[in-house]
Amino acid sequence: MAVVQSLLLLLLLSAVATIASAARGCSSVTFPSNRVYAACTDLPQLSSSLHWSYDAASGNLSLAFVAPPPKPDGWVSWAINPTAKGMVGSQALIAFRQPNGKMGVKTYNITRYGPVSEGPIAFQTSGLEAEYVDGAIRLYGKLKLRHGTTTVNQVWQVGATVVNGVPQKHDFKPENLQSKGTLNLVLKT
Ligand SMILES: *[C@@H]1O[C@H](CO)[C@@H](O)[C@H](O)[C@H]1NC(C)=O
Ligand SMILES: *[C@@H]1O[C@H](CO)[C@@H](O)[C@H](O)[C@H]1NC(C)=O
Repeated sequence: MAVVQSLLLLLLLSAVATIASAARGCSSVTFPSNRVYAACTDLPQLSSSLHWSYDAASGNLSLAFVAPPPKPDGWVSWAINPTAKGMVGSQALIAFRQPNGKMGVKTYNITRYGPVSEGPIAFQTSGLEAEYVDGAIRLYGKLKLRHGTTTVNQVWQVGATVVNGVPQKHDFKPENLQSKGTLNLVLKT
């Protein structure tokens, strides 16, 4: 009897774990009704997903990036790199709990490996907001891309710590180093 009970408990726990991890994927993230995205892709690293709507004629991109930070007080980031495929050159949005205690998003022009500093990026931004739901950070924002843009180099990342409002360096595990790729914004997914 005790064996049956622990087996049931185990099954229940693994079902809960599956639901919790799936809550970061395209098929299971539920946004508030005012946030609607036409496309989504499950990203191949860091248990993350990108949800977006895009109008190529205007270059208006509205996005939600969902990823679990390694620790609750960590950070998550999504970026476009207009000049290269990796981190250096990235025009990054980074979401984390701000010094005022609220979740928020700041912009970073990543010019080198090393400490990041907040500042303007190459794209006009609006609607930058973040929230922490089910162990994942949801980063929301709108970017104005050059009209006619269809494909971008995307880079995404997660980190465990923020010190005095500054996101600290991420791990250098394979999944942290491979979290980049080409995104076709107009591809129906
Ligand atoms: C693109 O975004 C700008 C600024 O947010 C807005 O004024 C404009 O109406 C948008 N255009 C389209 C076609 O959605
Ligand atoms: C980002 O940094 C690079 C290198 O310093 C600089 O050339 C570029 O103008 C910066 N971009 C913005 C939007 O400030």
